[in-house]
Amino acid sequence: MSLLFNGSKAVDVVTTALETGLLDALEPGPVSLRDLAARFGMQPLRLYKFLDCLESLGFLERDEPGDDINDTTYRAVRGLRAAAAAAVGPDSIERDRDTYPWRRLHGRLAESLRGEVSLTEDEFSWPPKDEEQTEAFERSMSVGLGPVLDTLDRHADRLWPGRRRFLDVGGGAGRLAAHVLGKAPELRADVYNLPAVGPLVEETRKRCGHPDRLGFVGGDFFAEPLPAGYDALAFVRVLHDWPTRDARMLVRKAFDALPPGGLLLICEEFRTPDRLAMQFFWSYFLIGADSAVSRLREVEFYTGLLAETGFTDVEVLPGVWELVVAHKPR
Ligand SMILES: C[S@@+](CC[C@H](N)C(=O)[O-])C[C@H]1O[C@@H](n2cnc3c(N)ncnc32)[C@H](O)[C@@H]1O
Repeated sequence: MSLLFNGSKAVDVVTTALETGLLDALEPGPVSLRDLAARFGMQPLRLYKFLDCLESLGFLERDEPGDDINDTTYRAVRGLRAAAAAAVGPDSIERDRDTYPWRRLHGRLAESLRGEVSLTEDEFSWPPKDEEQTEAFERSMSVGLGPVLDTLDRHADRLWPGRRRFLDVGGGAGRLAAHVLGKAPELRADVYNLPAVGPLVEETRKRCGHPDRLGFVGGDFFAEPLPAGYDALAFVRVLHDWPTRDARMLVRKAFDALPPGGLLLICEEFRTPDRLAMQFFWSYFLIGADSAVSRLREVEFYTGLLAETGFTDVEVLPGVWELVVAHKPR
């Protein structure tokens, strides 16, 4: 709780450690206070206290052999630099999230919980209500796609050979579809999304390495069946946006749209304690937006739903976020 209360100072410490380059020296470690102070032109006693702050966050191992603090050696836990860059670096997801008007609810949560304070439609609507919101939202989504792209890359040899046409349902501005094309030379990919997102997908198409193989299909998955003619469909961070009855309906529409042998992919932050923590911003912010459900479900919900719907060979492939794959029976 003490760390929580001092959270903004902890962010200051981590940002400073990243920006000064201290983390680059600490992660390979062990490195002595003497060497660190000399290398970074810092005062040893001040740096000692600074490193205590980092240690209190669980990020450092320290060996303090004697009376002279200069002999103290440190090593950062593995992966700290990358984790710090992801959380507080210039392209971090958190910095992007911070641009949303969360302050509207800050300090007024009790009123918000009673329904007396909400985000206005101008502040946030789900789905986004105009061009400006669409662009801001899809940009945020693209920033956070890294874990999904890693997982897809890891399993590319298994997913794409023999597949011809891929539809990324609710596929944002097309970053994922464009990325997949780089790993699957035989594939054509379309993004299915609300018509308002079309121009953003077009931008992605023009900038990507395979513009002739990327397309856009405008539509509303609540208003119509999913388009047929694709032998692979994906829901990436789409199903958790909706109540369970809608998630079921979308999986059913995917089943109906796929040909026999067709492949369905589902990837999102399946609920675990860590991922719920990563989702903290949206859980908090969306308290004030009733149209957005934000429902992280355990992976077993989806494997069960796929089997119930009639899919076979349902598997959970490992990754930063797992990938659920399933086939429509032949
Ligand atoms: C949380 S975003 C995920 C975007 C992308 N798949 C990703 O992971 O970056 C949900 C996506 O669903 C799209 N969407 C919302 N309602 C939709 C609807 N009724 N029909 C089609 N797409 C919809 C949104 O425009 C958005 O691109």
